[in-house]
Amino acid sequence: MNKFESSIIETIHERKSVRSYSDTLVDPKVLQEVLSFATDNSVGPFGNKVSFQLVDAEGFDTKSMKNLGTYGAIKGARSYLVGSVSPADKAMEDFGFCMEHAMLKATSLGLGTCWLGGFLNRSTFAELCNIGSKEIIPAVTPLGFAAKRTTLRDKLIRKAVDGNNRRPFSTLFFEDDFTPLTYIETDSAHVLLESVRRAPSASNKQPWRIVISSEAMHLYLEEDAAYNHRFDPVLMQNIDMGIAMSHLALAAKAQSLQGKWTQLKVVSMHEKYQYIASWVRST
Ligand SMILES: Cc1cc2nc3c(=O)[nH]c(=O)nc-3n(C[C@H](O)[C@H](O)[C@H](O)COP(=O)(O)O)c2cc1C
Repeated sequence: MNKFESSIIETIHERKSVRSYSDTLVDPKVLQEVLSFATDNSVGPFGNKVSFQLVDAEGFDTKSMKNLGTYGAIKGARSYLVGSVSPADKAMEDFGFCMEHAMLKATSLGLGTCWLGGFLNRSTFAELCNIGSKEIIPAVTPLGFAAKRTTLRDKLIRKAVDGNNRRPFSTLFFEDDFTPLTYIETDSAHVLLESVRRAPSASNKQPWRIVISSEAMHLYLEEDAAYNHRFDPVLMQNIDMGIAMSHLALAAKAQSLQGKWTQLKVVSMHEKYQYIASWVRST
């Protein structure tokens, strides 16, 4: 296990959205390291392939920067990691999975990141990256050093989405037939769930619900349909599912728990939740 893999739980807990960036330029080698990692981990658990590119806004004038559409939320970022995918079944989950892997790699290298699925001009990024007409850019992230002082806008966004807080453990995670689960710090399965609870999600809505059994963890989406479909065919909350899958898979590996994500034919159903996939233990 390499350093990134063994310290992933700390990295997950450290990560938070950075919206104010310092002027200090990031060493191009570090940016390349993030890109190579992303490219090496670009197939999601459902088999969709995500393509990654870097956009260097270093030479951009203010107008070009504004054209990226990220200007309102993000201050000072010079580099962006852009991911694209072809629309297909579970492409959003796979995109969330691969992009979050790359963003955690960036966090481990000391860089700030922020998922941007709403605040961006997709067509400008598509032009800059020469994205094929069939592909879509579900989200991008700035890559840079966090500024010492956050902007007022940054503080307002964080407050509006209550970005520092998460829902109680027992409202997200369940056992048996959706009986709320009480967090036990020494239980390795609960450590995995806590890694999901710390995940970023669109507008911090935290739509992940997980039911655990002795051999599997079943992931469901509690969808806010109007919100999820606002940028159709980009589905924000299905991206959230992929992010949760990434956190769980990485945290499991760090704890030497073997398993993989798969879709089961028979799982418990709940009227409010859509079944996504199960992480099934292999030992
Ligand atoms: C799919 C997705 C899309 C997001 N889009 C935006 C966005 O457009 N603008 C923004 O400022 N934050 C965006 N965020 C960041 C969330 O608001 C943030 O992750 C959440 O509030 C939790 O805060 P944290 O990341 O600091 O833990 C997005 C997050 C996700 C997962």
